[in-house]
Amino acid sequence: MSATGGKFENQVAIVTGASSGLGKACAIHMGSLGAKVVVNYHSGEEEAEEVVKEIKQRGGEGLAVQADVSKEPEILNLFTKTVDTFGRLDILVSNAGLQVDAPFLEMTLEQWQKVIDVNLTGQFLCSREASKIFIRQSRATAAEERSERAIGKIVMMSSVHDIIPWAGHINYAASKGGLLMLMKSIAQELAPYKIRINSVSPGAIKTPINKEVWSDESKYKELLELIPYQRIGTPEDVAKAVAWLASDDSDYVHGETLYIDGGMTLYPAFSDNG
Ligand code: NAI
Ligand code: BGC
Repeated sequence: MSATGGKFENQVAIVTGASSGLGKACAIHMGSLGAKVVVNYHSGEEEAEEVVKEIKQRGGEGLAVQADVSKEPEILNLFTKTVDTFGRLDILVSNAGLQVDAPFLEMTLEQWQKVIDVNLTGQFLCSREASKIFIRQSRATAAEERSERAIGKIVMMSSVHDIIPWAGHINYAASKGGLLMLMKSIAQELAPYKIRINSVSPGAIKTPINKEVWSDESKYKELLELIPYQRIGTPEDVAKAVAWLASDDSDYVHGETLYIDGGMTLYPAFSDNG
């Protein structure tokens, strides 16, 4: 299959945390639609190279780059390497994230800080660096060649837990709740530059992050009670929505959150009660 002539032809995308789960699916999907994809990874080098291989097999281009999203020098290096290799940047899928679960009363400062550093500060650093590049590129483009459309697109990976409180995961829920306002405030500030930023907020999607739940029969049954649509999501369910938000098809969508959750945010416990 060839990726040439796709929706993202001549566009360069960075996907953070792309060696597994949702990031991997986004990188492969966008690569197969013609984007040149930088597959950022933290520790899974082999898995990241596999993702690059799959993008190439589908006719696309890819490059694996190691960086911890919570470390500023590593992020500066990630963005520099991207532009040095592919010449530009058009899309950031700011996906990397993790859970470090503990009851509130027992949560250590390290457990709190780790999740905030990766899930919130990492998104701040990546969005800031991407935006600087978008603006620099736009200023280097002759006025008559500038289009009315976005000069760059950012899609943040949030979660239904940006609005559903989550006992036992307060660091995670706080990071995603913070992301909601981070995204909207950046959207307000950067709209005049024509940089588009939106979030997707998935419900339960089958990835390594929640393997403990979907791999256990009784926990999986309990999980389905929270999903009116009666199935767990797939990484591809999310990747398709991310690609739409990163494309010109959604050019007038800005500062929004798209919930991809099989109805998890519909308060299913109220369906025959209350
Ligand atoms: P995952 O565990 O497969 O992927 C997370 C990725 O982030 C991994 O590749 C990991 O190496 C990377 N990562 C962790 N710390 C990093 C760091 N410091 N620097 C760079 N990369 C780092 O799990 P999944 O589900 O694919 O998670 C991706 C994102 O989706 C996360 O932000 C998560 O919060 C979010 N999400 C996942 C849902 C799900 O049900 N799977 C639902 C809602 C949101
Ligand atoms: C979490 C998953 C969980 C899902 C639905 C995500 O943000 O990372 O572990 O299954 O939300 O609760």
